[in-house]
Amino acid sequence: MLYRYCCKLNKKLKSFTLTRKRIVHYTSFDQRKRSNAAVLIGGYAVSIMTSLPVCVIQSLTSGSNASYLPFRDASFGSCTYNLTVLECLQGIRKALQHGFFDFETFDVDEYEHYERVENGDLNWIVPGKFLAFSGPHPKTKVENGYPLHAPEAYFPYFRKHNVTAVVRLNKKIYDAKRFSDAGFSHYDLFFLDGSTPSDIITRRFLHICESTDGAVAVHCKAGLGRTGTLIGCYLMKHYRFTAGEAIAWIRICRPGSVIGPQQNFLEEKQASLWLQGDGQRSQKNRTEERAGPHLISSMDQLSLSPAHNTGSDRPQEVMRQTRPQTLTLGV
Ligand SMILES: *[C@@H]1O[C@H](CO)[C@@H](O)[C@H](O)[C@H]1NC(C)=O
Ligand SMILES: *[C@@H]1O[C@H](CO)[C@@H](O)[C@H](O)[C@H]1NC(C)=O
Ligand SMILES: *[C@@H]1O[C@H](CO)[C@@H](O)[C@H](O)[C@H]1NC(C)=O
Repeated sequence: MLYRYCCKLNKKLKSFTLTRKRIVHYTSFDQRKRSNAAVLIGGYAVSIMTSLPVCVIQSLTSGSNASYLPFRDASFGSCTYNLTVLECLQGIRKALQHGFFDFETFDVDEYEHYERVENGDLNWIVPGKFLAFSGPHPKTKVENGYPLHAPEAYFPYFRKHNVTAVVRLNKKIYDAKRFSDAGFSHYDLFFLDGSTPSDIITRRFLHICESTDGAVAVHCKAGLGRTGTLIGCYLMKHYRFTAGEAIAWIRICRPGSVIGPQQNFLEEKQASLWLQGDGQRSQKNRTEERAGPHLISSMDQLSLSPAHNTGSDRPQEVMRQTRPQTLTLGV
């Protein structure tokens, strides 16, 4: 939606019939709509006019526009984490700086096609690196009006987009061999629906992504909660996103991502993930200076404790069709 908004506004600004006119973006007094509108016009300022997010917030809050209601997660429980409009704009800015999004090459039709459940329910969070999707099923079929896809349904798309590894975070409902026999690495890192990953799971996930050439496709049940949480850890470690910026960017790409305590988990992990990332980057720099192309990996070999792999997979995760529309960033 942010992309479509920017295109629309660009078109109006360039329109010959509007040359001597001012364009006013107005919204109702509904607090939630005001916040949505602030992210849209603020996102335009940050991405098209390359304004600084703090300056944009200053203009948005001047005059009678006192403050903006923060965003919350897509669950129905009590709100444990507030995501501010400023963090959304900073997330957009950081994503642009790191090349996660390019207005010139973004294919909005492809995006809108593949995010549909019947076409795979896939969203790129970091193009060429992270694809989030809802979990495949043993058989392609329609169940209660909800389309399900077998692993094979994804092969052509994955091959075309250089996906080389699949990470499953929910229980084993399809045979992993179906992916591995087709040439994709497949990893199981189970943790409970709606919960937060252990340190071992987090480190193992990061290690898998760091040692994979090509893109990693990550799924849990709906591909929102657990999937967004671990991808968020990677964004914090490797790109120094704050927890809020990571949550904002992931939700812009895939509305409804990161739910309940997972938001607070990311906030708690920010400092240590930044430290780990800084450490790895400076070690990599030193190694490169000293040894040229001979890189030494600083990662320990980690093994999974089976204790983290037991338990049932409660179907708690918010499904896409039940997500509240007003409070998610609808982009
Ligand atoms: C989030 O913000 C709302 C409204 O600004 C406030 O009432 C609430 O206490 C905040 N919650 C948290 C967890 O910070
Ligand atoms: C996939 O990788 C190949 C070879 O590394 C590259 O030429 C191609 O552009 C990549 N395709 C995509 C969609 O990233
Ligand atoms: C590593 O080197 C790059 C480029 O030479 C530099 O921008 C970056 O700050 C360095 N990182 C660390 C952690 O030393």
